Amino acid sequence: PQRMKKVCCIGAGYVGGPTSAVMATKNPDVSVTVVDYNKDRIEAWKTNELPIYEPDLLDVVQHARDPVAKRIPNLFFSTDVEGAIAEADIILLSVNTPTKSMGHGAGQASELCHLESAVRRIGEVATSDKIIVEKSTVPCKAAETVRDILNATAKPGLNFEILSNPEFLAEGTAVRNLLHPDRILIGSLNTPRGLAAARSLADLYASWVDRSRIITINLYSSELAKLAANALLAQRISSVNALSAMCESLGADIDEVSHCVGLDQRIGPKMLKASVGFGGSCFRKDILSLAYIAESLHLPQVADYWRSIVGINEYQKERFTRRIVKCLYSSLSSKRLAVLGFAYKKDTGDTRETSAITVVNNLINEGANVRVYDPLVEEDRVWEEVLASSDRRETVKQRLSVWPSAYEACADADAVIILTEWDEFSNKISGPGDARGRGGDRTKRVLDWSRVAGLMQKPMYVFDGRNVLDAAPLEKMGFRVESIGKGVV
Ligand code: NAD
Ligand code: UDX
Repeated sequence: PQRMKKVCCIGAGYVGGPTSAVMATKNPDVSVTVVDYNKDRIEAWKTNELPIYEPDLLDVVQHARDPVAKRIPNLFFSTDVEGAIAEADIILLSVNTPTKSMGHGAGQASELCHLESAVRRIGEVATSDKIIVEKSTVPCKAAETVRDILNATAKPGLNFEILSNPEFLAEGTAVRNLLHPDRILIGSLNTPRGLAAARSLADLYASWVDRSRIITINLYSSELAKLAANALLAQRISSVNALSAMCESLGADIDEVSHCVGLDQRIGPKMLKASVGFGGSCFRKDILSLAYIAESLHLPQVADYWRSIVGINEYQKERFTRRIVKCLYSSLSSKRLAVLGFAYKKDTGDTRETSAITVVNNLINEGANVRVYDPLVEEDRVWEEVLASSDRRETVKQRLSVWPSAYEACADADAVIILTEWDEFSNKISGPGDARGRGGDRTKRVLDWSRVAGLMQKPMYVFDGRNVLDAAPLEKMGFRVESIGKGVV
């Protein structure tokens, strides 16, 4: 197949930006242009203050974007969506596909309006054959929708091949995941043109991914495999979280249970960490989409099965809040609670679907004053997220505050509540006095728990929603540590 020379990526978000940067770095002969109609986002990608935080991302972006030594830049960011489409041989669709908020399937189905508008633009602008790649996570058979829109809008005589190439990166480890993927899926039609298009895309990945990891399959298997992967990963977390509730009553320790089951090679150790509940823009949305598809296939039992994973996740957040209320003598009225961590996981500033939104709102509704600190999340994001999901906005404005350090958040607090597993909060990783934290990197600070003890009200409760604490040394300092899935024998 023909070597692709010009790639256009539509959507400069968490997937489009890092994926394009790695592809450009590893294919110096290929020009990669990332386009988005969000002007601020595009401008930020051109600076060293990238619009998203990912470890090592700036190095990769700079390598391909900025002229150095003999290397000619081959990574570009632009709002000229039409221009980039017109020039491209291959177009990666990396637009957002959130859960529908209104109309038929609201709260369940994936919203494809952004995908549709991007595809319409391709149809209107294209004057040459193109390979169109679904990088966004889409419902099964979305490729047929894409084909239908192109057939209706494009100039006659042009050929479009549609591929499914779902992205499996996780935030916080995006660059590592992109450089060393477990697998690259490329789904195509089983026609000579479809297979040739798949080979063209495979060649771009083969610049840095071993061919044995590049899997070419049926278009619809590829679409379904992405939803299936996320559902199975989330299912492991909900299974462990369901067991954590049992551990708390039984006097068992969920970390020990997870460790033991994970030693079975058929199960494996990853994605078995009990928590206050999974968050992020993908798991909930993709499971609900899978359930909605099952429902539309007249498989209500299958739909219920998948939805129960989300159900346990909601239950875990509520259960965590109830435990806080119970320990604090069944009333949070006017109590000061320090919330450490607001991002949905460490090493990202992303707050989409973070469990902290639910927990903070629950605490405020119980009458608490909630003082939030997160090393990376902007203050405005905390306010927007909490206000957007509250039906008591005036109360939120009175009772929520956001602080630039953990110590300020913990001042006079009745309890500390850890909602993100930032290394900073853990006393397992390294103690105070560690050299990290110098040089101004906010993600490398270390919390001095003895200093926290000096700031708090008594009794000093710590609710560890991420099991990042070794309770024994903290208990020696006088803390009462309540962890997920750890019962009192
Ligand atoms: P995002 O919201 O960060 O980025 C999407 C970008 O697309 C936005 O900047 C938006 O302005 C832009 N956009 C939307 N419609 C457009 C149009 N018609 N023309 C030009 N630009 C347009 O989303 P994301 O987190 O990068 O996710 C993108 C897709 O990848 C989703 O389908 C998601 O499910 C999937 N995915 C995400 C992750 C993740 O970790 N975030 C991982 C794997 C897959
Ligand atoms: C997920 C998938 O892992 C990734 O493959 C897909 O492409 C996008 O969705 P992401 O949401 O970025 O990635 O992060 P992930 O590491 O999967 O964590 C999701 C949520 O689950 C986080 O809130 C995390 O804290 C939580 N989690 C993860 C647990 O509670 N326990 C675990 O063992 C792992």
